[in-house]
Amino acid sequence: MEIKFYKHEPIPMELHKVKIVQQLNLLPGNQRLQKLYDSAFNTFQLHNIDIFMDMLTDSGVNAMSDNMQAAMLRADDAYAGSETFYRMARKLSDIFGINYFLPAHQGRACENILATHFVKPGKVVIMNYHFTTAKAHITRLGGRVEELVKDEGLIPRSNLPFKGDIDLEKLEACIQKETVENVAFLRLESGTNLIGGQPMSYQNMKDAVAIANKYGIPTVLDASLLQDNIYFIKTREDGMKQRSPAEILRMIADLFDIVYFSGRKFGFARGGGILVRDEKMFHAMEDYVTMFEGFLTYGGMSVKEMEALTVGFEESLNMDVISQGPQFIEYAVKQLDDYGVPVITPGGGLGAHLDAMQICSHVPQEEYPAGALTCALYLCGGIRGMERGTLSEERNADGSERFASMELVRLAFPRRVFTLSQTEYVIDRVKWVYDHRELIGGLRFTHEPKTLRFFTGRLEPTSDWPHKLLAAYQAEFGRDQ
Ligand code: F0G
Repeated sequence: MEIKFYKHEPIPMELHKVKIVQQLNLLPGNQRLQKLYDSAFNTFQLHNIDIFMDMLTDSGVNAMSDNMQAAMLRADDAYAGSETFYRMARKLSDIFGINYFLPAHQGRACENILATHFVKPGKVVIMNYHFTTAKAHITRLGGRVEELVKDEGLIPRSNLPFKGDIDLEKLEACIQKETVENVAFLRLESGTNLIGGQPMSYQNMKDAVAIANKYGIPTVLDASLLQDNIYFIKTREDGMKQRSPAEILRMIADLFDIVYFSGRKFGFARGGGILVRDEKMFHAMEDYVTMFEGFLTYGGMSVKEMEALTVGFEESLNMDVISQGPQFIEYAVKQLDDYGVPVITPGGGLGAHLDAMQICSHVPQEEYPAGALTCALYLCGGIRGMERGTLSEERNADGSERFASMELVRLAFPRRVFTLSQTEYVIDRVKWVYDHRELIGGLRFTHEPKTLRFFTGRLEPTSDWPHKLLAAYQAEFGRDQ
């Protein structure tokens, strides 16, 4: 539902009310500077208590509804045969129309299981775009990924409605070049996390899957961000307006052999799982659940979270719920774009994405401009975003940097968490940082892990730029902000 206003210009409105709150803490700037040094200029290392607006991710930090909380009370705790599990599995098979379900503790655990089952050294997984953990599991096993998102998907400013679409010609050519035997599976991610939460169209998924089917290649949907993608298909794709989110979800699911998801995103709680259409394939993967995750009726999830997810899946089919994220993101993106801040357009799901390649064009890519901008935003306002650029890549085999095609700072909008005034605060601080971008300098590693280095790496600034940036900020806002 879109609320109409009398005198006020249109704004997105929260279609829920607050029932439980968590007090926020805004440290003075000097202390934030200290915390940046303590956390080695890596926002993953910050403590939540030192953060004012936590926009790191929407993973496992979405607000739960009263009905989700209520369901947690009836959780049936049993090592084997928990009724909670059967409720969850029934709900998933009702919604997706796929009968076999393997539970896992989160999305990357599903990726581990799928990679272990399908990937052998030298095999390739074709995808529209990679996600960090999906790729790490494939390469760990000696596989490779081929990313075939359409070229336009990587252009930051655009008005294309479906920038996550895969290039169908390249897909067919890639299968022929790699040969069918060498392709482990086709993985479509909807929406695409690392290029700005951009959705795929239903038509593109259908066409891509048809090509894979022609060659007998298994098809896998990463549905972690599916609720946003459903919203975009309904509002942006021709012929889809009249269809309900449940219908759209089913049309998508019907295409695929396998659907997996992170329940930290899809379902708004914490967990994950893999839906498998084929009984034989399901049994072949069962052992990995018992080995890596837990027994087959919990897979590493707490029964309380499973109950919450079961309600969360249902809520993900409600337009008033799934429109919240995209509408707030669109609002933030528009305000920033109007001001001239380079942002990924159109707004996608997941979060607003700042184009650090442009904003910090004076910082060389080997000094991690997106990482530096992320730190600047924490320093100037206590806002924690996430670097999604070269820092989030892994080095090439010869040790050289693999430069990301986009240098983004993601400001995630966990669902139903932030109000419009909090959104306005973030927009305001981003504008200030943009106007003072020349003060931002680079970063370098002091400790660089080999795998997923962005999580645990330690960095330092290449000069005393954070001090100068803070001095300018305090001259504007005072020492207590
Ligand atoms: N697939 C996608 C598209 C994701 O966005 C994520 C997680 C995963 C898989 C892995 O799921 O975290 O439950 O293991 N994205 C988080 C983020 C980490 O912050 O964007 P997980």
